[in-house]
Amino acid sequence: MKTDEKVLTELLKNAKATYISGESLAKTSGVSRNSIWKAIEKLKKNGYPITSSRSKGYKLEPGYDILSKGTIKGDVTILSTLPSTNDYIKHMDYSDSTQIVIADEQTKGKGRLGRYFFSPKGTGIYMSYSFKPKFTPDDTMLITCGVANVVHDSIKTISGKDTQLKWVNDIFLNGKKICGILTEGEFNLETNLFDRIIIGIGINCFPSEVPDDLKDIIGFLSETAEVDYTRNDLIADIIKGLDNLFIGKNPLDRASIISNYRKNCFVVGKIVTLNTFNSEPSQVEILDIGERCELIVKYLDGKKEGLTENIISGEIIL
Ligand code: BTN
Repeated sequence: MKTDEKVLTELLKNAKATYISGESLAKTSGVSRNSIWKAIEKLKKNGYPITSSRSKGYKLEPGYDILSKGTIKGDVTILSTLPSTNDYIKHMDYSDSTQIVIADEQTKGKGRLGRYFFSPKGTGIYMSYSFKPKFTPDDTMLITCGVANVVHDSIKTISGKDTQLKWVNDIFLNGKKICGILTEGEFNLETNLFDRIIIGIGINCFPSEVPDDLKDIIGFLSETAEVDYTRNDLIADIIKGLDNLFIGKNPLDRASIISNYRKNCFVVGKIVTLNTFNSEPSQVEILDIGERCELIVKYLDGKKEGLTENIISGEIIL
């Protein structure tokens, strides 16, 4: 990494603190203080809002948030704009190890069920994480719910915000959706296993101009960009959580995924509209989350009125 990139990484790591001294930057970057000064000048010239103080050192102005590889571990590609990070990763060669693609903006962000995911520049996280799983197709619900838990926990760790999960994997804050997750798989009929699973995560971090039709639906993790965390912090923590979920010591641990999901999910006890796409939408009461992360519902109308059923795929409308 070049000195200016190293310096930027240190300043970004330090975004929660105040100044960082030239001496400390020189030590962590393994260069002279003069090289640090030159690197800072270069960064300033390139538009980074860095304040210098003779006695205290340097700091990046609060609220400044750029995506940077420095603090994010793994095989990461960061691009300023893409149609969709999920589609981009699908065109990358298969790899036995994890691949991650992040964009500052998506022009054709994809949501579940062929919907559009609003992905404006500079204010959100649009990332895809792809890996070669050893799991069978029976585990897909666990994957989906495990990822929702990871993102929920990372948001809490990094921003302090207590979000809630709407089955299956939408994340809500104050009654509005702030995050959507799209899981796609490339299935191999010969091995009966997935060749690759792609987890797409979209988080609305900071406010942006939202189209009128989405104003009542979309929320933001933080009400302002002047916060003491960066998108990089959140991405790094999510990647750590996903690595742990899929390739850690106890991958896809059913018991802990289900118990955490039940804690994080807010739909049990609610009366909602259920759409399973193969019949007319019905009013149901949600009784519980089952052992496979499925919804256990009781029908309140239609042909199935009074019946209880376990639902593994579908959508609920609050
Ligand atoms: C949903 O809410 O329906 C799921 C939204 C998933 C959006 C993410 S953003 C990164 C990745 N790339 C995409 O095109 N979609 C996912």
